[in-house]
Amino acid sequence: MAVATGTATHFDAPAIERELYMRTFARQPITLVRGEGVRVWDDTGREYLDFLAGVAVNALGHCAPAIVEAITAQASTLIHTSNIYHTVPQLELARLLIDNSCLDRIFYANSGAEANECAIKLARKWGKLHRDGAFEIITALGSFHGRTLASLAATGNRHYQEAFDPMPEGFRHVPFNDLEAMRAAITPKVAAVMLEPVLGEGGIHPATVEYLHGVRKLCDDHGILLILDEVQSGIGRMGYLYGYEAYGIEPDVITLAKGLGGGLPIAACLAKEHAAVFTPGDHGSTYSGSPLVCAAALAVVRAILDTDLLANVRAMTDHLHAGLKSLQAEGDVGISEIRVSGLWMGIEFDEDRAGAILDKCRNDGLLVNRTSANTIRIAPPLIVTRDDCDRFLDIFGRACAR
Ligand SMILES: Cc1ncc(COP(=O)(O)O)c(C=O)c1O
Repeated sequence: MAVATGTATHFDAPAIERELYMRTFARQPITLVRGEGVRVWDDTGREYLDFLAGVAVNALGHCAPAIVEAITAQASTLIHTSNIYHTVPQLELARLLIDNSCLDRIFYANSGAEANECAIKLARKWGKLHRDGAFEIITALGSFHGRTLASLAATGNRHYQEAFDPMPEGFRHVPFNDLEAMRAAITPKVAAVMLEPVLGEGGIHPATVEYLHGVRKLCDDHGILLILDEVQSGIGRMGYLYGYEAYGIEPDVITLAKGLGGGLPIAACLAKEHAAVFTPGDHGSTYSGSPLVCAAALAVVRAILDTDLLANVRAMTDHLHAGLKSLQAEGDVGISEIRVSGLWMGIEFDEDRAGAILDKCRNDGLLVNRTSANTIRIAPPLIVTRDDCDRFLDIFGRACAR
């Protein structure tokens, strides 16, 4: 299946996928072989400006020197030990994440869905201990919390669930940004509310400040936990280390993944002392928090805390937003709404053109993705520069033109 193309070995990737893979991903027809900063190259040598960053994962860009150096040194020192033993990168990362948050304790996981499983189990045990066996978790319609069965049941979108019914019980979904609906849904059976601060996969719909403050108060009044799924919103994406900081509230539990490892598979669930109810044997994971992935995460979190990365996120957010607004105002591009939450934007069109626009962008050397038939999402690396943003606006503007 490998074909020599002169300069490189070119795989007939779609053919191999058709023959060998389970049918899960609707892949773009390119095979990426190299990355550097905000750019990636395919196996024909073509360069692309990457404004998706592995779906909000490559926070420091591709092959960031700080990450490469950290994991290279760690890989030649200690890669995996299991959680039967302490390791230094894991301890250092716990200190850094906790000391810069309102949370007190951490559990490491390998993916966003697994971090959410941890939060769901915490809520259920907490309900058993402190709320007379309450076990229900309220989440939002339009939310996305992962693909494991419990995180799928938490997800507020039947489209992802239907083939796998019956869903595990204990999840109820309410309209997002609707405080009255949340108030009405809280019964004695409810142990927790779990929300994304911004519906990410749902198309970048930010919670309003009033809504999250209102939900926090409802949780306090009823004595239930507030879990924020910060898998996509956390780790600098919104211009803060944690997305909740943008709202001025304190959750009881948060989950992190995506940007945390800058490309290596690490996730975490952080909880306040009163919510961290696990006792030995309640939860675990073989790979989680290995020295290798923690070394990468340390490089990411240190870059956020010790450099001007967050200032860059805010400046580039403003620059991109202004550019998109003038694109919307100037030409016949059909942009009906621009939703912004840091370096994380949903650009909605008045027709179902997202697929065609995405293809045009890729053919012109720009990677973005779509969250629905009419919405393009961008989530560039946090290191993106003004020049990168201008190049994006140029290519994107041409792709949108009718
Ligand atoms: C908010 C949110 N939670 C959970 C997940 C699941 O993360 P993972 O794919 O790492 O399991 C995602 C993935 O897109 C997400 O956006």
